[in-house]
Amino acid sequence: MSVKFDEKSRVFFMETQNTEYQIKINEIGMVLHTYYGKSVGCCDMGYLIKEIDRGFSGNPYEYRNKRGISSDTLPQEYSTDGAGDYRISAVSVSLANGSRTLDLRYKGHEITTGRTNPEGLPYVREQEDKVDTLRLVLEDKVAGLEVTLSYQVFEAKDIISRFAVIKNGSGEAVFLNKAASACMDITGRDLDFIHFHGRHAMERLPERSRVGHEIHRIASKRGTSSHHNNPFVILCDKNTDEWHGDSYGVMLMYSGEHAEEIERDQAGTVRVVTGINDEHFCWKLEDGEEFVTPEAILAYTDKGLSELSFLFHRIIRDNVCPKEFRNVKRPVLINNWEGTYFDFDDEKITGIIDSAKEAGCEMFVLDDGWFGKRDDDHAGLGDWVVNRQKLKNGIEQLADHTDSLGMKFGLWFEPEMVNEDSDLFRKHPEWALSDPDRKPVMGRDQLVLDMSRNEVVDYLYESMSEILKSAKISYIKWDFNRSLSNVFSGKYPVDRQGEVSHRFVLGTYSLMERLREAFPDIMIEGCSGGGGRFDAGILFYSPQIWCSDNTEAINRLRIQKGTSYGYPVSTMGSHVSASPNHQTGREVPLMTRAIVAMAGTFGYELDPRQFSDEEKAMVREQIDTFNRHYDLIQRGRYYRLSDDEDEKYYTSWGFVSEDKEEALLNLVVTDMRANPEIIYVRMNGLDPAGIYVVDDVISSYDKASKPENAFFSGAALMNAGYAFDPLFGSYPSIQIHFRKTV
Ligand code: GLA
Repeated sequence: MSVKFDEKSRVFFMETQNTEYQIKINEIGMVLHTYYGKSVGCCDMGYLIKEIDRGFSGNPYEYRNKRGISSDTLPQEYSTDGAGDYRISAVSVSLANGSRTLDLRYKGHEITTGRTNPEGLPYVREQEDKVDTLRLVLEDKVAGLEVTLSYQVFEAKDIISRFAVIKNGSGEAVFLNKAASACMDITGRDLDFIHFHGRHAMERLPERSRVGHEIHRIASKRGTSSHHNNPFVILCDKNTDEWHGDSYGVMLMYSGEHAEEIERDQAGTVRVVTGINDEHFCWKLEDGEEFVTPEAILAYTDKGLSELSFLFHRIIRDNVCPKEFRNVKRPVLINNWEGTYFDFDDEKITGIIDSAKEAGCEMFVLDDGWFGKRDDDHAGLGDWVVNRQKLKNGIEQLADHTDSLGMKFGLWFEPEMVNEDSDLFRKHPEWALSDPDRKPVMGRDQLVLDMSRNEVVDYLYESMSEILKSAKISYIKWDFNRSLSNVFSGKYPVDRQGEVSHRFVLGTYSLMERLREAFPDIMIEGCSGGGGRFDAGILFYSPQIWCSDNTEAINRLRIQKGTSYGYPVSTMGSHVSASPNHQTGREVPLMTRAIVAMAGTFGYELDPRQFSDEEKAMVREQIDTFNRHYDLIQRGRYYRLSDDEDEKYYTSWGFVSEDKEEALLNLVVTDMRANPEIIYVRMNGLDPAGIYVVDDVISSYDKASKPENAFFSGAALMNAGYAFDPLFGSYPSIQIHFRKTV
């Protein structure tokens, strides 16, 4: 059992292969977090807690003469509000009598094999893993509330996931003002935190700061997890880098408004709390009802940021994403968006499909514009019926044609949206989120459907199912192109409006779940103006997400690198687009664009009819190369191999197969210089004693060649690095494949 309880010391031990998590119950039932870190052999870490009177930190009534004991200074497992802890709270309530105090104490626990799932929400699947669960029940007898903290221990994967269930047994309705998923107090460390900020078309850029005594709040109140702040944070030692050092990762599996709060308290303890953003949140809990929070994924390693990323990559790939697509080769797709935008008809699309086939593409995806009166972005959203003006022969004929060429066919939807100029809105204006008596804020001239209404979810399920059943469709691109505002639902009374934004997310999840059940073989690719909803919640339903609307390879290096801290390459939608690029105007060679897109799901997004014969041959070679290295890229370990200083000049990354038999080293020179310094890149993850040779090279520079008769030990490549010959040209790149000989 990876979960144990020692009755005598009242300590819970949760052990994974390399880590240990401890919770201690004190004499009066306070639930204290005593340790999370490297395995310590189940030594009771309660000794880390020092009972020091700090003044102005009050004491529980039972300890009124023992001033060193305060919920304000002791590390808490699930912090509350109103009962003397002045740091960030995990949960906050308003009781029927107006009291806002909650004082949770240990009530009991249950340790079981296997897991129970948070209803209606995504979670880390058990799959073939051995999972043990601790359900720790806390209660406040006066308030009549019970909180169950559920911890799932994925022993072999070095992952612990947790969520909370809050139950009202007070006899009256109460309001939850905040209900976080996880709270963790880390003692004795001077920590940095890394979070992933951004904007549309420039998502998930890492920012590292020192945890100070102020409250750092990384949050979204946009209705989605957002381009702007991803629900993932890393806490690490000051000296932690890719290769060495302690780090903790905290990831929320949630696609709506979230908040990660971090604070260093007066005693030096660092608290991190993650969960639904409480700013718009207020949930009325009737007597007998439960509220279930989203699940958070926790990981710790002392082996640097690469290892932390690996732990998240593995759990997301194997236990979060739908299992149907886990070990299946996904097709190299071509999407028509940047090739045509809204301007297409059957003839044009058929021409694109035919040219794409010649270039070796394996799936065609018809993007926005095939439905309703969708000739631009001012009309049609909500009307999921084929636009016969543009596609006279319908989707069925296009899908059949694609199928006859041995390719798959995919289709774009933006289910949660509606245009005012649509039949759906004319029929059901009340289905759009909007405040009474007020004109709503518009985004891309569209409104957002009220996904908290079952009838809306039913309508979407029916209309999407009809299209999906009508033709041979293998893939859905599921878009979401604006932030929420005017989050008011006519369905709910005044005192339940604070529930709408979370109910919205639950509605989306239920629609995804229903469609997945009905069409298990159809793969969903998530999207929200690129990567505005790139989170582990969406990944539960779709194994890949369009990483960014920015398809420009040099910008993509930063976006994909930032994304890679938390998410595996197999989830990052990445395409080769036209040059000059439509977002930045930059010109980048076709091979460099492909090498960058290969650090993702790989595909094309352009008009292939414009390819010259030479380009078509090059694309075929690129697709062959990607397919040859598919397992290595999609299932191997991914390493970031350049740091901020290197990246003024070049970016490098690599893949190493789990058995260390092969590796792929990639380099893009981003700032070309005459008479350049030699680029040495220290690889990672190889077998130090193995002898590697180069057996395949692709490059944008036609004079780049394969070093013949060159043998490198893994240790040499990792300690001294690979020494690159100079490249030449605009944004040149090279990809080198190593194979182990002995
Ligand atoms: C979003 C997506 C794009 C494309 C357009 C279509 O911006 O991210 O890839 O699908 O919508 O309107």
